[in-house]
Amino acid sequence: MHFISQELEDYIEQYSQKEPALLAALNKETYQKILLPRMLSGHFQGRVLSMLSKLIRPLHILEIGTFTGYSALCLCEGMQENGTLHTIDIKEELVDFQRKHFDKSSWGIQIHQYLGEAVAIIPTIDLKFDLVFIDADKENYLNYFELILPKMNKGGIILSDNVLWSGKVLETLNPKDISTKILLEYNTLLANDSRVETVLLPIRDGLTVSRVL
Ligand SMILES: C[S@@+](CC[C@H](N)C(=O)[O-])C[C@H]1O[C@@H](n2cnc3c(N)ncnc32)[C@H](O)[C@@H]1O
Repeated sequence: MHFISQELEDYIEQYSQKEPALLAALNKETYQKILLPRMLSGHFQGRVLSMLSKLIRPLHILEIGTFTGYSALCLCEGMQENGTLHTIDIKEELVDFQRKHFDKSSWGIQIHQYLGEAVAIIPTIDLKFDLVFIDADKENYLNYFELILPKMNKGGIILSDNVLWSGKVLETLNPKDISTKILLEYNTLLANDSRVETVLLPIRDGLTVSRVL
């Protein structure tokens, strides 16, 4: 769902930083070769992720849901020189595509790919993170939050994507719609949990910024 008109979206992109050439090429190739290309963050949200990362200056970054690697490269833009980004995805067929584009960037060896169920992989990564981007299956958002919270540095930022879920968070809940049910619980948790302070930004499909206290 577009929460704002196409004209305004175009205007916002026009008056935000241009999409870097590497990301424009990755964006194009994703649309040419990969199923469900709309899952990729895209120009505007990518610039938001890049700017947030530059403000945070994270040493270690965790991403849950790599897809074709677009958001991972945006988050790397603000990473400290000796930093690392750890990104998890369950789709084996995406691994080589991601690597090809990671290696075209200046962060290739700093980006660590993990293949499999994120709930199983997160506990195996022995690091403390300054920035986490949650952008995978909605059914596990509550699990992801609880798994990553002990791995966050104080003041670290957790970004959660798609929290407005095309506006379904406002509709009458269909009890069979587990994703919306979990997202409703997740949004309630983030707004009320004393371990974080949260602001929900109406960016694209909804992006929450939670600061770990
Ligand atoms: C919306 S896409 C990520 C988009 C990417 N972050 C970007 O902005 O370019 C979600 C990704 O999560 C992955 N995913 C879904 N369920 C998962 C799970 N249980 N564990 C790990 N990855 C999962 C999917 O394979 C998909 O590539």
